[in-house]
Amino acid sequence: MSVLSLDQLLVDKNKVDWLSQDYIRPYVFVRPDNKIEQPGQRFPLSWFSSEVIRKNPLKMADVNFANLILDLEHKAFEKSQMPMPRWVFYDCAIMPGYVAGFAMKQSQMSDLQKSFYPRLKPEDEWVPISLFIIIPTMARGEWVAHNLCSINSLSSRENRFYGLGFLTKAFALWFANIEICCGMTQWTSPALRLHSHYGEFEILTAYTPVHDYPETLTYRLKVDPHYWEVFFNKSTSENFEERYMKSEHSVCRKDVGSLKALQLLIESGKGPFYLRPSELRSGSLEDSLAIYLPR
Ligand SMILES: CC(C)(COP(=O)(O)OP(=O)(O)OC[C@H]1O[C@@H](n2cnc3c(N)ncnc32)[C@H](O)[C@@H]1OP(=O)(O)O)[C@@H](O)C(=O)NCCC(=O)NCCS
Repeated sequence: MSVLSLDQLLVDKNKVDWLSQDYIRPYVFVRPDNKIEQPGQRFPLSWFSSEVIRKNPLKMADVNFANLILDLEHKAFEKSQMPMPRWVFYDCAIMPGYVAGFAMKQSQMSDLQKSFYPRLKPEDEWVPISLFIIIPTMARGEWVAHNLCSINSLSSRENRFYGLGFLTKAFALWFANIEICCGMTQWTSPALRLHSHYGEFEILTAYTPVHDYPETLTYRLKVDPHYWEVFFNKSTSENFEERYMKSEHSVCRKDVGSLKALQLLIESGKGPFYLRPSELRSGSLEDSLAIYLPR
């Protein structure tokens, strides 16, 4: 499997020039026992060449890095009213899992950017500007994505780091050699555009009453960097047609009845059902989405 470089993919490669600046670097915030032994071995990729900042969440000296992650997270999830409680961060992310993202040197940040972090101290050299959390599950080889956010959601268009949210999850999947990633997102969330571009995207639940938000989509994807290219060059996947065919079913994201109908089909074993990334990338929330079956 060969993967194109970002420069080859983007018409305007300046869009992601932040990725090669020395004032922005990827970080991992992982307790030593959860350390990944051979990072970045599974997928051949040249996208993440900067030195990785490593912080230890079990060290008192690194606690303000956790505070800054939570500052960012709470602001990013303010609107959706789903900020992560601090104990959830510790019990359900740091202890079992793996936290990663990008950090920026405080000395390069604008006053506005700094204002997103009420607990920022002058001695904090690196400030997390994105966050992804992933946790191993009991199902063999499967991980579950638990949180994704980026400072872009708080920034004006001209001050964004294009692709930061997308590349945060991509970096973590690459670094931790993750093959299968499950996740949960709301059908109407714009983040679905991103989540569907990490690999073949199977719907595990279309309607999820056990969640606080029943209109939650649970997905499972087989990580495939070919889809990351598709995200950046806004193409359609070259092998989708070969592997999947349109079923007679479709779903409308805002129509609870259609979500429930799809859920019943899944529960009665009519699947597995897949969504097509290019339809999610370009479609509006009102469009109905085709549901695909493997050929
Ligand atoms: C969702 C989130 C992580 C995306 O990260 P990001 O850094 O903003 O997005 P990226 O720069 O990586 O992605 C860029 C692409 O996604 C699209 N996109 C990102 N956020 C979007 C939004 N809120 N609405 C519409 N499109 C959005 C951009 O338009 C762009 O697509 P384009 O190339 O067609 O212009 C970020 O907006 C965020 O933190 N949101 C708040 C928390 C949240 O909802 N997290 C997801 C939980 S499942």
